[in-house]
Amino acid sequence: MAQAAPAAVIILAAGAGTRMVSRTPKVLHRIGGRSLLGHAIHAAQGLDPQRIAVVVRHERDAVAQHAIEINPDILIADQDNVPGTGRAVQCGLSTLDAAVKARAVALSGAPLDAEGIVSTTQVCGPVVVIAGDVPLLDAATLGELVAAHKADGNAVTILTTEVADPTGYGRIVRDPATGSVAAIVEEKDATDGQRLIREINSSVYVFDAELLRDALTLVTPHNAQGEFYLTDVVAIAHGRGLPVRAVQSDDPVIVEGVNDREQLAVLGAELNRRILADWMRRGVTVVDPATTWVDVDVELAQDVTLLPGVQLHGASTVGVGATIGPDTTLTDVEIGPDATVIRTHGSLAVIGAGATVGPFAYLRPGTELGERGKIGTFVEVKNGKIGEGTKVPHLSYVGDATIGKHTNIGAGTIFVNYDGVNKHHSTVGDGARTGANNIFIAPVSVGDGAYTAGGTVVRYPVPAGALAVSAGRQRNIDGWVERRRPGTEAADIARQARESEAPQESSTLGRQAREEQARAGSASHPVTPADGTPFGYRIPDAPPTPAFGTPQAQSPNHNSPNKESGDAQ
Ligand code: UD1
Ligand code: CA
Repeated sequence: MAQAAPAAVIILAAGAGTRMVSRTPKVLHRIGGRSLLGHAIHAAQGLDPQRIAVVVRHERDAVAQHAIEINPDILIADQDNVPGTGRAVQCGLSTLDAAVKARAVALSGAPLDAEGIVSTTQVCGPVVVIAGDVPLLDAATLGELVAAHKADGNAVTILTTEVADPTGYGRIVRDPATGSVAAIVEEKDATDGQRLIREINSSVYVFDAELLRDALTLVTPHNAQGEFYLTDVVAIAHGRGLPVRAVQSDDPVIVEGVNDREQLAVLGAELNRRILADWMRRGVTVVDPATTWVDVDVELAQDVTLLPGVQLHGASTVGVGATIGPDTTLTDVEIGPDATVIRTHGSLAVIGAGATVGPFAYLRPGTELGERGKIGTFVEVKNGKIGEGTKVPHLSYVGDATIGKHTNIGAGTIFVNYDGVNKHHSTVGDGARTGANNIFIAPVSVGDGAYTAGGTVVRYPVPAGALAVSAGRQRNIDGWVERRRPGTEAADIARQARESEAPQESSTLGRQAREEQARAGSASHPVTPADGTPFGYRIPDAPPTPAFGTPQAQSPNHNSPNKESGDAQ
């Protein structure tokens, strides 16, 4: 393609796009994860031109900034209040000429006003002009147009196509004798006979720079729209006997412009269909193309499977053999080989090889799941690193935390990262086992191989290999429901249960039954559940539980006020 490289590409993006009925400029609307202007710029870049100019006017700052973000070398050309595509190209060309002059001046070391340089240095050779609202136009099509322009020695080469309904387009009027293009006539200026022509102007051209510069000075706004038409350059060139030819595309969609939201949706679906077809040719299984959406910049490896309802956006990448979906939306997520991601919503996350995510997981920015790790069901992770082989299987929030390798986080765990003012970070080591329903109040750390009991509120560091327990002993207060909630359904049922379990004569019971009865009878005292503390760990030296209703005795050391409240965010 480099041999066909043009001197410059001018992208027209100054129009208002009123039919979009939008606060957003038309060329900033997106399909396939890229703005219409972004598609045009990518096609232009594919030609490897010396310079690209984007002509702006409507919402000029937003459009210009967007163009510069995509490619900082892009030249921004401001169109003045003279309307029409001809004027737009004139503004683009003079910006390009100014850049060429500035470079010549810089290289020669001559002062800017040196007559010779200023007057003679301009863009020369082929200049490509494209509209900023033709998103499926690709670099390959443009390359063929430039190659034909050079091979035929044309003054103007126009990309045209035949459409069933040419309404609204400029019609290609050919010289009956030679078949070369004599003029482009706009719909509003066309005769009834010309309106029957089905070959239309796509608004994609290659011009010889010198002809373009000169002919634009001769264009007038004497037409139905009172605008300076770029298309008039064609008749001027033809009138001078210069070769003007059309290259017909047999794929009308490639040259279709977006004027309203319906066309935006139609072209968006068509672009997606083409992207999926391309991935399927390259070894990706797409179970249901109708409900699968993949942006232009997404990368998929061989034997990836996309189940129905998958949307992959931004710069997402999926490794060999991974399965995504059903019903998963990922934006800028990197998925390792053989990973599985089910019913998940995520952005700016990394999922390791062989890892599993979902169903019903939410991966927020900064999520990193190690190889063969697991983020399970109803789990939300934000700025959390979860090590190799580590599992967060159920109902948890991991915010601002680093968890080591081969650790298991119990169900219903919350990493409380927010104290109402600041966010704090927590760390869990390798090989740890944390109990269900834990709360880690950041900043806090749990050492390698440590355990925490179910229901633990972890406010202070847990050393490696230790067991942390924060819950008090369970106390049962016998008969409380019947006494304190009389008349309720629960009290009635409690009474029935008590009456049906009335103690039998001791003499009729076996030894084991008598022991159990004795244990049950002591239940008005604090008890340890049958197997010790929750989670199966016995606390040998737990203090007696204070009487019901008295304030909980707490060591001041364990009652730092700024750790009392917190939230997970
Ligand atoms: C234009 C062509 C028409 C062609 C059609 C293809 C002219 C006169 N007509 O018509 O032959 O069939 O495109 O879609 O060129 N723009 C500016 N400055 C302006 C006016 C427009 O930069 O003053 C830009 C727009 O932002 C847009 C492009 O030029 O990107 C085309 O403008 P638009 O108004 O859509 O032209 P059409 O009437 O569709
Ligand atoms: Ca248009």
